[in-house]
Amino acid sequence: MKIEKKIPKHIAIIMDGNGRWAKNKGLSRDYGHKEGKESAKEMVRSCAKLGVKNLTLFAFSSENWKRPKLEVDLLMGLLHNSLRTELKELKKNNIKLETIGDLSKIPLIVRKFLKKVCEETKDNDLMTLTLALSYGSRDEIINSVKEIADKVKNNIISVEKIDESLINQHLYTRNLPDVDLMIRTSGEKRISNFLLWQSAYAELYFSDELWPDFKSEHLIKAISDYQNRERRFGRTSEQII
Ligand code: IPE
Ligand code: IPE
Ligand code: MG
Repeated sequence: MKIEKKIPKHIAIIMDGNGRWAKNKGLSRDYGHKEGKESAKEMVRSCAKLGVKNLTLFAFSSENWKRPKLEVDLLMGLLHNSLRTELKELKKNNIKLETIGDLSKIPLIVRKFLKKVCEETKDNDLMTLTLALSYGSRDEIINSVKEIADKVKNNIISVEKIDESLINQHLYTRNLPDVDLMIRTSGEKRISNFLLWQSAYAELYFSDELWPDFKSEHLIKAISDYQNRERRFGRTSEQII
């Protein structure tokens, strides 16, 4: 499959289906998450190779804190381990790591390591890999509204200055372009509070593959599907041509 043309600048992925993958094999959910980590690694490699400039992975939602403590602990442990093992790879491959979400809830030891990896990769410019951790889009929007309201109250900005660009600058994603392609695996067709503002005009792609089974060839299929769509942004087909 040839996909050189029109590579999306920003791909966001809702990595779903680890639990079901494990259950189908008679294993505990932990195995699904461990295997899911391999798919995430493969996505990073493939996106960098294909020339995608921004990849955002939904790794843990603000709602995922409601899961059993054992599962939450395992996910935090997996994150910590991946950061330790992948730092070298990120550096070698010129990939910058960033995070979005409420990191204050992430265990201190993991948070410190995250900070270290972000710091040590901040000058890399082949691709930006953003991990959404303890992330919820509504939380993010509430946060930005509070910051802006505070600035208005303190006469730093006037109400008339509030526009799309100002709101963008107050979101966690302030350094990222809008999402071009949003992928969700596992057959679920919902957004689950992920990048609601940033995906206003994203092309949505739903795959039936469970996340641990989602590999390079599936990513290429998703990008190829994206490339065959006409993005009109409110205009007519004739205007696009
Ligand atoms: C996605 O897989 C990983 C996280 C949400 C952390 P799930 O754990 O949601 O897997 P399912 O949906 O139960 O199969
Ligand atoms: C969304 O998956 C969050 C992540 C992939 C990290 P969930 O499995 O938590 O989503 P819902 O709750 O089923 O919509
Ligand atoms: Mg799920």
